[in-house]
Amino acid sequence: MKGGMARRATFFQKLRQDGWPVLGLDVGGLIHGFGRQAELKFQTLVESKRKMGYEGIAFGADDLRLPAGELVAVAASVDGKPSPFLAANVGLLGKPGDITPQCRVIEAGGVRIGVTAVLGKKFQKEIHNDEIQMSDPDAVLAKMVAELKPKADYLVLLAHATLEEATELGKKFPAFNVVVSSGGWYEPPKTPQTIAGTKTLLITVGHKGMDAIVLGLYDGAKPSVRYQRVPLDSRFKGSPDMKLLMTAYQEQLKAIGFEGLGLRPVPHPQFPANGKFVGSQKCESCHEKSYEIWKKSGHAHAYNTIAKLDPPRNFDPECVSCHVVGWHPTKFFPYETGYQSQEKTPHLVNVGCEDCHGPGEKHVAAELSGSEALRKQLRKAMVLTKADAKKTQCVSCHDLDNSLEFNFDLYWPFVEHHEKD
Ligand code: HEC
Ligand code: HEC
Ligand code: HEC
Ligand code: HEC
Repeated sequence: MKGGMARRATFFQKLRQDGWPVLGLDVGGLIHGFGRQAELKFQTLVESKRKMGYEGIAFGADDLRLPAGELVAVAASVDGKPSPFLAANVGLLGKPGDITPQCRVIEAGGVRIGVTAVLGKKFQKEIHNDEIQMSDPDAVLAKMVAELKPKADYLVLLAHATLEEATELGKKFPAFNVVVSSGGWYEPPKTPQTIAGTKTLLITVGHKGMDAIVLGLYDGAKPSVRYQRVPLDSRFKGSPDMKLLMTAYQEQLKAIGFEGLGLRPVPHPQFPANGKFVGSQKCESCHEKSYEIWKKSGHAHAYNTIAKLDPPRNFDPECVSCHVVGWHPTKFFPYETGYQSQEKTPHLVNVGCEDCHGPGEKHVAAELSGSEALRKQLRKAMVLTKADAKKTQCVSCHDLDNSLEFNFDLYWPFVEHHEKD
């Protein structure tokens, strides 16, 4: 969702303009997490895949945790257009093949490509949903190969499975020219990999949809298959179609609201000791030096950064979490006294002092009217050491997905502050 789908659509369009017949395949895992936002995101992403013309999408383990009714509504054929999903060993509200086909042959540029998809055994264990039927990939793949082989020139297996399982399947079923695994490295490799002892290409796609893996099939020429990893970077402008979808999704999130999305605020672990979040402004009068440095830092306008995006993302819990005070950065839920909305909690927009030091209500109150002992105790509760910041605090937000370049020693000097000289 990081502009990935908008750029991907532009890339597809460009290939098509250049005269390539394009077949879009996806090894699955469109969403992570569960709940109302995951459902809306799934709908949006599937709609985007349909618009791009995808003809084979596997189900991922997280996808299959959505209610089966919801899955069927999104994955079934629409207006006579077949489902873009394939599932050889997964059945929604019935047996495999009932709602989504188990395999299909797609002709592109005169080549008949046979595609099927399975969910690996390890991921099957993560799904506890009576409405979903699953079976052993081995048994069903023998059938799929027998069915596809006579009708297709080139066979592709989408294995939503660990790299190990996908590799084993490739060895057991050498009829597949390509096995795509949902497992593997954070970034897909630059050069093509084959499964040891076979001629089968093993494709991994990375974790965040930030790259497209392209296989070019050439008639007669050598090599007849060309592999390329294409980073979906700023060379590709976002497609207007996808922007409309994204805008509609953000508007849904806004209309439903955090509560409607099922976010339940929980007590902050430091709440009993420190009290509520009070906002960075409250610290200014006593910590002028720290405040000045903070105010000039990127942290002090982090909310604006997401509110000014097009479409705005300040109603999206998955963006808000690290750009305000008082949310869990990566689990996307608010703490009880954390940010709620720009109207209700204007003092808690942006990354503030309390994102690092913890809530400050009791400390502030004690400084104004507490006993010496209480003041001491609560100052202590606010202390964050540089070592702890380096180890846990910074990287809770500056993680691989959002701050790939993060390096404490390089970043710290930009936000470093001291009161005593
Ligand atoms: C009414 C004045 C006052 C306010 C308001 C105030 N502080 Fe303090 N704070 C102090 C004093 C005085 C100390 C002890 C002197 C020192 O250690 O710098 C202190 C100590 C601290 C310390 C520990 C410093 C150390 O290493 O011992 C931190 C961290 C801190 N404050 C953060 C905050 C934050 C964050 C806020 C706003 C939520 C805040 N303070 C609001 C007066 C205040
Ligand atoms: C609550 C989440 C969060 C925490 C914790 C956090 N950051 Fe950030 N940081 C952000 C966000 C969000 C931005 C982007 C701000 C923007 O440009 O909108 C950012 C930007 C920055 C920047 C670049 C902008 C600037 O100020 O020039 C630096 C440097 C930085 N952070 C350092 C740190 C360090 C060092 C730590 C730990 C001591 C830390 N951050 C902890 C969320 C966080
Ligand atoms: C886990 C914490 C986290 C989440 C969640 C998060 N961000 Fe950020 N964001 C950061 C940090 C940290 C930075 C600063 C990165 C840096 O300077 O290294 C940042 C910087 C940014 C920037 C400015 C720098 C840039 O890359 O252009 C934008 C825009 C941004 N985030 C948008 C978003 C959007 C949109 C979402 C939701 C899809 C989001 N963020 C979710 C932590 C987060
Ligand atoms: C990105 C995380 C982060 C933010 C935001 C942040 N601090 Fe700190 N702060 C730290 C760390 C880490 C230290 C410890 C520095 C050290 O030991 O050298 C510290 C130290 C301090 C100290 C002790 C200074 C000293 O002289 O020892 C005070 C007081 C303080 N911060 C107040 C604030 C106030 C007030 C704000 C907001 C205006 C704020 N901090 C924002 C991480 C942060």
